[in-house]
Amino acid sequence: MSFTIELVPEFKDNYAFLIVDHDLGLTTVVDPGDGEVVLRELKRRELYPALILNTHHHPDHIGGNDRLQQEYGAPVIGPAREKGYITGISRGVSSGDIVTFSTLRGEVMETPGHTDGHVSYYFPQLQALFCGDTIFTLGCGRLIEGNSKQMWESLQLIAALPDETMLYCGHEYGELNATFALAVDKDNFDLKKRTEEIAMLRKLGKPSVPTQLGVEKRCNPFLRAGAPEFREALAKARVAPLDADPAAVFGKLRTAKDHFGQKAL
Ligand SMILES: [Fe+2]
Repeated sequence: MSFTIELVPEFKDNYAFLIVDHDLGLTTVVDPGDGEVVLRELKRRELYPALILNTHHHPDHIGGNDRLQQEYGAPVIGPAREKGYITGISRGVSSGDIVTFSTLRGEVMETPGHTDGHVSYYFPQLQALFCGDTIFTLGCGRLIEGNSKQMWESLQLIAALPDETMLYCGHEYGELNATFALAVDKDNFDLKKRTEEIAMLRKLGKPSVPTQLGVEKRCNPFLRAGAPEFREALAKARVAPLDADPAAVFGKLRTAKDHFGQKAL
């Protein structure tokens, strides 16, 4: 079986994803925000959607469900805790549940923080995590419904996956996130290198998604709230004392980002 994961840019900076089974011409659509855009892409690639997966209930992730269901009748799987907000949902899932597509098994992980019931889908055979608005290239989702402790725990769950895991984030925020990351972690050589790489990709019109978990663990400040060298820098800059709990340090970083002048991120 040969599978690929395709990005479908939507709106200003969203991505929907297609997990494509090339042998069968079938696909799973992850987070279709704009039904028309995804529909066009499916027709262009001559693919039939067998399944729709939603990570959370925000309109830019579920707005295309209706249109795709109308056209193909594809079932929608989404977070059990947000079932009431997702029209057309056929099955609500939570931690430990398995979703299947072709020969693939996707493990459901609850990753609340951005929304209360947010889930991510981990496909070990693809080394891929569809993480919605939980973690981004060099950043993380805003705490719209959840709190910093929840989000920190969600990030820890993700950090425990193999380093080779590719993170399929719901937005193209890499370049903007790099600005904040460099402001708080300016001596991080890996971060500087990654920032240059992202700038080059964007210059060529290429996405900074997916991003590799191992790289994010070295570069993403929100995953580094427990890293000793970063903690020392934060203590020196009086952001958070050395003995602060990592979840509290994460919370302080998230608040600092909220006030960094990039409201939508
Ligand atoms: Fe969202």
